Amino acid sequence: MNKLKGRDFLSLADLNSDELKELLQLAAQLKSGQINLKCNKVLGLLFSKASTRTRVSFTVAMYQLGGQVIDLNPNVTQVSRGELLRDTARVLDRYLDILAIRTFEHKDLETFANYATIPVINALTDREHPCQILADLLTVQECFGKLDGVTLSYFGDGNNVANSLLLGCAMVGMNVRIATPANYLPNMEIVEKAKTIANGKREVIVTEDPQVAVKDAQVLYTDVWASMGQEQEANSRIPIFQHYQVNEKLVKSAADNVIVLHCLPAHRDEEITNAVIEGKQSQVWKQAENRMHAQKALLVSLLGND
Ligand code: CP
Ligand code: NVA
Repeated sequence: MNKLKGRDFLSLADLNSDELKELLQLAAQLKSGQINLKCNKVLGLLFSKASTRTRVSFTVAMYQLGGQVIDLNPNVTQVSRGELLRDTARVLDRYLDILAIRTFEHKDLETFANYATIPVINALTDREHPCQILADLLTVQECFGKLDGVTLSYFGDGNNVANSLLLGCAMVGMNVRIATPANYLPNMEIVEKAKTIANGKREVIVTEDPQVAVKDAQVLYTDVWASMGQEQEANSRIPIFQHYQVNEKLVKSAADNVIVLHCLPAHRDEEITNAVIEGKQSQVWKQAENRMHAQKALLVSLLGND
C-alpha cells in the first residue's frame, strides 16, 4: 500500500494499471470492512467550483480514517485576492499533509503540485476528474464481478469525465466508446494515450454515432452537456446534444444486463431521462456512495499507513 506514498494524483495516468487495480481492491476491502485503517493526518480542500459529492465524500472518508479536514474555500483565502498559486502552494505545504484541489485550468493544479511536496489530488479540473472514475470502476467491478472485457459507452460532451473514463477503462482492460457531437470531442492526446494503453487488445472508440456506441454496451454513462464554467452555453447546447440523450430507447439497444451510470449532478430529461435515472438499470446511488470508499483507499495510499 505504501507504494503510492507521497505521490500526486493529478490524472489516472499517474498510476500504472497494476497500481490502479490494487487501489480498487483496497477500496473494496475498506468498503466491506475486511480491513480497517487509521490515518491521523490533515487534508485540505481547495475548491474553486461547487461540489457536493467530492467535498463530502473526501471529508467523511478522512474523518472515518481518524484524520481532519480543512475546507479552504478560495473566497475566504488570499487566493481570491490574487496571491500567486506557487506562493499559496508552498505555504499550505507546511501546514497540511495532503491537498485536494478542484479548479478550472489543469495547469493550475500542476503548478500546485510542482510547488508543494505533499501529495496533491485532482478533485476535478476542466481536463480530468480521476477521483470520479475510481468510484465508477469500483461500481462496475461490483455489478459485473470483473472489469476486464466489460464495455462502457459514454454519451454526450467530451469533457473531463469522458477524458478520465478513457484512461481508466483502458487501464483496467475495459472497452471504451465515446459518442459525442463533432465539435465536442474528448481530448485527443488522452484518446491516443488510451489507445496506447489498450494496445489493440481492447476497443477505444470515438464516434459521432450513438448507435455505434450502444451496441452490446454493458455500461451506459453520461454527464451534463455543459460543465461548470460553461453555464452560458447550456441552452444553446441542448439541440446539439439531444441525439446523445440516455433514454429508454437507448437502454433497450444496449446489452440485456446493461447498467446506467452518471457522475451527478444530473439534469433530468436533458442528458438522461427521469425514467432511466430512476429505472432498474440505474446504479447512480451506489456509484455516488463509492466515491467515499474509493477516495478513502486513495487517501491511505498517498499518505501511507505506517
Ligand atoms: N460527481 C461529482 O464530482 O460531484 P460533485 O460536483 O458534487 O462533487
Ligand atoms: N463535467 C462536470 C462534472 C461534474 C461532477 C463538470 O465539470 O461540471
